[in-house]
Amino acid sequence: MKRFDSKVVLVLGGSSGIGRAAAEAFAREGARVVVSARREEQGVAVVEAIRKAGGTAKFIRADVSRDSDVKEAIDGTVKAFGQLDVLFNNAGIEGKNAPIADLAAADFDQTFGVNVRGTWLAMKHALPHLAKTRGNIVNNSSVVADIGFPNTTIYSATKGAVNALTRTAAIEFIPQGVRVNAVSPGPIETDMASRIFGGLEALREFARSQVPAGTPGLVEDIAEAVLYLASPGARFVIGQVLTVDGGVTTH
Ligand SMILES: NC(=O)c1ccc[n+]([C@@H]2O[C@H](COP(=O)([O-])OP(=O)(O)OC[C@H]3O[C@@H](n4cnc5c(N)ncnc54)[C@H](OP(=O)(O)O)[C@@H]3O)[C@@H](O)[C@H]2O)c1
Repeated sequence: MKRFDSKVVLVLGGSSGIGRAAAEAFAREGARVVVSARREEQGVAVVEAIRKAGGTAKFIRADVSRDSDVKEAIDGTVKAFGQLDVLFNNAGIEGKNAPIADLAAADFDQTFGVNVRGTWLAMKHALPHLAKTRGNIVNNSSVVADIGFPNTTIYSATKGAVNALTRTAAIEFIPQGVRVNAVSPGPIETDMASRIFGGLEALREFARSQVPAGTPGLVEDIAEAVLYLASPGARFVIGQVLTVDGGVTTH
């Protein structure tokens, strides 16, 4: 018996990085998984990898900043697999990172549109389905919600908002039996972190001096935490932001 046998999991932002690792980990643990994102080729590649490993998965294209796309991804998941047990709200962009003077209102709207509006829309549309299965939601935050990191005023604010959404929805949804939590990663080796730091080597160099663990994290480190939060073992964990950061915020 695997941890997620008979469960249906939707990973928004499942085409690469942390989302891909989580989708593959949920499938390995027996879940039927819907991988959703904008890039079809990458999303289908994740589905094929899951199927090749013996799992069950399907790709649904969606841009989380669009209300109708989010609803279609959630309804499409239920249509394909009959129910929804876990929503991993992982879709996110770093947006433009620059000193505040070099940022425009449009940059603010774009990053909030994906990271905050997308997360909020998905929680809204998933709730009726999750109430039927007494399912749960895991949002993806970031340690920059808690510590100052220059040139990320907009991105950091989106993640602070994700933490607030997580706590508020947790209290609002729990009477319906739906748990909401978040994972808060430190620097993790992905395309996004590589873009922010100017390459993987620069990220590793940063980690040597700034991360107590001495290295960036791997996508599997975050996937493990997501699976824990989504599992029955976390049934009494409600409205928490679980930091997985190699000690960055403890320093
Ligand atoms: N890597 C880190 O160090 C780190 C640290 C803290 C938090 N995080 C968070 O972890 C999450 C995953 O990031 P990652 O590091 O794994 O980077 P990534 O490889 O760039 O993954 C981002 C994912 O989000 C999806 N996405 C972006 N915009 C979307 C949109 N409008 N609609 C639907 N999907 C969208 C992307 O798919 P498409 O491009 O195909 O749409 C991709 O699957 C993000 O929320 C990020 O903020 C990452």
